[in-house]
Amino acid sequence: MKIVIDTSEAIAQKAAEKYVELLDAKPDAVLGLATGSTPLGLYAELAKLCARGKITFAKAHSFNLDEYMGLEGTHDQSYRYFMNENLFSHVDMRIEETHVPSGVDVTEQTAADYDKLIEQAGGIDLQLLGIGNNGHIGFNEPNTPFGSKTHIVELTDSTRQANKRFFNSLEEVPTHAVTMGISTVMHAKSIILMAIGAGKAQCIKDTVEGPVTEAVPASVLQLHPDCTVYLDYEAASLLGK
Ligand code: GLP
Repeated sequence: MKIVIDTSEAIAQKAAEKYVELLDAKPDAVLGLATGSTPLGLYAELAKLCARGKITFAKAHSFNLDEYMGLEGTHDQSYRYFMNENLFSHVDMRIEETHVPSGVDVTEQTAADYDKLIEQAGGIDLQLLGIGNNGHIGFNEPNTPFGSKTHIVELTDSTRQANKRFFNSLEEVPTHAVTMGISTVMHAKSIILMAIGAGKAQCIKDTVEGPVTEAVPASVLQLHPDCTVYLDYEAASLLGK
C-alpha cells in the first residue's frame, strides 16, 4: 500500500491527479465510484478540472459500489441520486454509461448480473473507496468473505446509526443494501482508499497496520498490488503509535 498524508484539500487534489493521468492514457477507462462524504472534495475537484478542459469523462464508464435496498434512484438518499447530484451532473460523462446497482427488485441474480456487466466492460481500472468506522468497504460489513462478489447485505446497527444523519430517523435508514463484494473490488486494476477525520483513525490503523482479516474488510487491501491510501492528518493520527 502506498500511503499519502496531507490536508483534506490536498488529498482531494492529489487523488484527482490520478484520474487525469488515467483518462489521459485511457479515455474509455472504467471507473469504480463511491458515495459518502469522503469523496465529495475529490468530486468537486474533478468537476473543476472538467470545466477547465483538463479532464474529460466523455468516453468513460462507471460502476458504483453499492446502493440501499428499497430506495428508487429518485429518492434523495439513494446513491444514484447522490452520484447524479455530486458528480455526474457536473462532468461530461454519458449518464447511460454510469452504473449504480439498482436498489429495487434486487435478487441474488441481479446482483450477480452486476459483476457480469463489469466484466463485459473490461473490468474496473480504478476503484475509489471510502471506509466505514468499522472498516467496511462498499457495504461489506465485518466478516464478509474475501471471496464475495456483488451481493445483498444486512446492514449492521453501527452502519445504520452512522448513516442516520442523512435520514429523518433511524427507522427510515434501509436495513439492507446491495454491494460489490470484496473480490469484485480486489479485481480492480488500481484502488484508491480515502479517509478523512479523527473518527476514521482507528479503522485506518487496523486497515494499514493490523492483520489481514475478514473482521476488518479494508485490511484485504494490503494484498492488492496497486492500492494508494489518501489520508488527512486526523485519519492518519494513530499510524505508527
Ligand atoms: C457508507 C458507504 C461506504 C462509505 C461509508 C463512509 O456506508 N456505503 O461506501 O465509504 O459510508 O462514509 P463517509 O465517507 O460519509 O464517512
